[in-house]
Amino acid sequence: MSIKRSIVYFERAGVQNTEETLKLSVERAQELNIRDIVVASSYGDTAKKLLKLIQKENLNLNVIVVSYHQGFHGEDIITMGQETMELLRNKGAKVFMGPHALSGVERAISNKFGGAYPVEIIAHTLRTFGHGLKVCYEIVLMAADAGLIKTKNEVIAIGGRSRGADTSVVIKPANLNNFFNMELREIICMPRDKRKIEQ
Ligand SMILES: Cc1cc2nc3c(=O)[nH]c(=O)nc-3n(C[C@H](O)[C@H](O)[C@H](O)COP(=O)(O)O)c2cc1C
Repeated sequence: MSIKRSIVYFERAGVQNTEETLKLSVERAQELNIRDIVVASSYGDTAKKLLKLIQKENLNLNVIVVSYHQGFHGEDIITMGQETMELLRNKGAKVFMGPHALSGVERAISNKFGGAYPVEIIAHTLRTFGHGLKVCYEIVLMAADAGLIKTKNEVIAIGGRSRGADTSVVIKPANLNNFFNMELREIICMPRDKRKIEQ
């Protein structure tokens, strides 16, 4: 048996693709009867847009927002303000901040000693499909390890290039200790040209 489904390719990576990415994600969730949407949102902007869309369309979806860990952008800095976090939670989203699955302590090793290590090599390999796709893998691992999604159910994951969203996929999750059980089931949209547009 086979199925035919469409993929949208954006000409360039970046935040300008956010609205369309979110719309396509919600549509695919409906089509496949997927309940969980995991979205990367560092400051909360993309998450707010997604929740607004879900509310407007009156959909019953479980939104898991993954942000940068404290300290990612400098000592003790949290990118997503407390107010934004509460606003997202009040709208029904689960918000998670924690160790980044595809860098973690290896980032400290490469920063201090140089060199290349397996997890960061996996991350860089995934980035050849686009930064957003690497982010999709990473936030799904983080959400699964945090107990916010089940690994037996397919989820939709949304990532982007620094800000906003430009990539959306259907993924069968896994925990970090079973990373190689991850399955990329469908690509919903992604940018063709992966380079960052300077803002
Ligand atoms: C855990 C995590 C890892 C991320 N890694 C990358 C990355 O490797 N490359 C990249 O371009 N963006 C990365 N991002 C940014 C996201 O893809 C996304 O564009 C951003 O979180 C959206 O934030 P906003 O809603 O505040 O605009 C990462 C975000 C998170 C939360």
